[in-house]
Amino acid sequence: MKAYYDARAPEYDEWYLGAGRFAGLDRPDWDKDLRALRQAIAALPPARTLDVACGTGFLTRSLRGQITGLDQSDRMLAIARNRLPEANLVQADALPLPFEDGSFERLFTSHFYGHLEPVQRAGFLTEARRVASELVVVDSALRPGHAPEERQERILNDGSRFSVYKRYFDPPRLVRELGGGRVLLATSWFVMVSSPAEAVGTVESPEENQPGRRTPHRDQGLCPPSPWGGML
Ligand SMILES: C[S@@+](CC[C@H](N)C(=O)[O-])C[C@H]1O[C@@H](n2cnc3c(N)ncnc32)[C@H](O)[C@@H]1O
Repeated sequence: MKAYYDARAPEYDEWYLGAGRFAGLDRPDWDKDLRALRQAIAALPPARTLDVACGTGFLTRSLRGQITGLDQSDRMLAIARNRLPEANLVQADALPLPFEDGSFERLFTSHFYGHLEPVQRAGFLTEARRVASELVVVDSALRPGHAPEERQERILNDGSRFSVYKRYFDPPRLVRELGGGRVLLATSWFVMVSSPAEAVGTVESPEENQPGRRTPHRDQGLCPPSPWGGML
């Protein structure tokens, strides 16, 4: 994922803003849902928060409290640094997290968990529970035209192509997968779930991993690029 996100960093926010390749795409309710997501993030009580895989900081800036952002990509972090002069930004791999046990009150992560394959997921949840007492996960909602699990071909502005693993979530199932918690937001594009420290994730989502649930695209190795830009 590193090469892909390094390459994508300068154009990453175009996805949120409906600019560049995303201009003119038919994304019903996108702006409304994005506003609702930013409001839901801003409504979280201020806390000592670690944003894992903060990217350009587009959503990080809605978090309140003492914010640390972590990302593996220095090109993503360079953009986040301009946007979030007050935040502590750390370039590191999320697996494992380079922090002491209980360093944070909340671990927030957006559009990262859904890129983790099962073994990484288990490692990430263990790390999240270790460093923070609350886990908040934002990710893409399961939408018509998508399978819960896909391997997608992503094409950047310069024509370069990358294969990316990506999941889409039904909110109650995400709560179950994290071992409990509450749905804080469920729109047609986004889900946001809060899960307390004592929750223990199941990691495998059994229905998704039954052979019959695999997408034809996944069996063929790649999904075509999403025409509506439902990537992240
Ligand atoms: C889809 S972007 C999400 C960015 C941001 N959280 C958002 O919601 O817009 C995924 C981010 O995860 C970062 N990332 C991927 N794997 C990582 C890892 N193992 N450790 C740290 N960051 C990682 C990428 O560099 C990228 O910035």
